[in-house]
Amino acid sequence: MVQDRTVRALLLRENDGKIVPSIEIFHESLLPEGEVTVKILYSTLNYKDGMILKGYGNLVRSYPHVPGIDFAGIVEESSSALYKPGESVILTGWRVGEWLWGGYATKARVRAEWLVTMPAGLDARRAMSLGTAGLTAMLAVMAMEAHGLSPEAGEVLVTGAAGGVGSIAVAILASLGYRVVASTGRPSAYNYLHTLGATRTISRSVLFDKKSHSLQSEKWAGAVDNVGGETLAVIATQMRYGAAIAACGNTGGNAVPLSVLPFLLRGVKLLGIASALSPIIRRKTAWERIVQLLSSETLDTIARVEPLSHLPELADVILQGKIQGRTVIDVNT
Ligand SMILES: NC(=O)c1ccc[n+]([C@@H]2O[C@H](COP(=O)([O-])OP(=O)(O)OC[C@H]3O[C@@H](n4cnc5c(N)ncnc54)[C@H](OP(=O)(O)O)[C@@H]3O)[C@@H](O)[C@H]2O)c1
Repeated sequence: MVQDRTVRALLLRENDGKIVPSIEIFHESLLPEGEVTVKILYSTLNYKDGMILKGYGNLVRSYPHVPGIDFAGIVEESSSALYKPGESVILTGWRVGEWLWGGYATKARVRAEWLVTMPAGLDARRAMSLGTAGLTAMLAVMAMEAHGLSPEAGEVLVTGAAGGVGSIAVAILASLGYRVVASTGRPSAYNYLHTLGATRTISRSVLFDKKSHSLQSEKWAGAVDNVGGETLAVIATQMRYGAAIAACGNTGGNAVPLSVLPFLLRGVKLLGIASALSPIIRRKTAWERIVQLLSSETLDTIARVEPLSHLPELADVILQGKIQGRTVIDVNT
């Protein structure tokens, strides 16, 4: 069979300081250097992808650029002993889609050691229902477990719960037997979050209402925070003695007006989660655990599939905090 050497991609070009997206077709010889060429089946839309699609945050080094910080597909060609043609693989992070060309394309060329073999029980679409968000949520839970968290310790808070990382964190914690309190700015998402296993839902405004540096009553045995900003500062004052917060996101801002009191008087721990450069061995453990913990039905509840052509509009929607769960991108439509 003659191999198709063309690539269809969403390309970003810089035009008078403005970032302009368009779907283009080019020869695969234009792909960057790399040991493994992957035929991509699905990518996803993460908050960071939204920023890149709009040209925010100086995340991209040069244009033209193919965004998409994660993808799943099949190895087409490989000069590495690690992967053979025909193997199913996942890529998340490693600055792919930021400094390097990413997953909003029918092919990508990457370093072999960045890939993870598709875990048994998962396919490309469902792997992308998880994607960077799923890996991040699992790493956050693993970090809190390593700190000593267990289900009998009490309620665990998830902020930005109706978003990608938040939804998967809720589902993972519920599957592990935790009592999960899901904080969201969207009352319309309460039923969805209960379906994923949240024991209680609370309004985002409840956390915002308590802007105070003084210690509040001890509530949370652990927390997965996707919001940062004022929210992180407030939840630090509500943590139980010795409890840990897994800091994952910054949708509410980078500046955190933290009081030192939760750390000095309650021994609260702040655990930073950085999935993009997480070592491969930890990724493999995380992917294997997610497959054990989340059913296909749960993944299908969390994710919907959209075509490549919808990405420019979807970027605005995710940056407005209006996407529920995960958006999988079918790069072939
Ligand atoms: N550290 C890492 O390795 C890593 C990896 C992946 C993502 N992240 C970060 O994690 C965060 C979530 O990513 P995602 O892909 O899950 O995004 P997402 O799907 O858009 O979810 C973010 C959620 O945050 C809440 N939110 C949005 N704007 C807000 C605001 N102004 N104030 C308070 N809450 C707000 C919304 O949840 P509700 O409507 O439920 O309130 C929204 O659904 C992002 O900051 C992203 O950059 C970090």
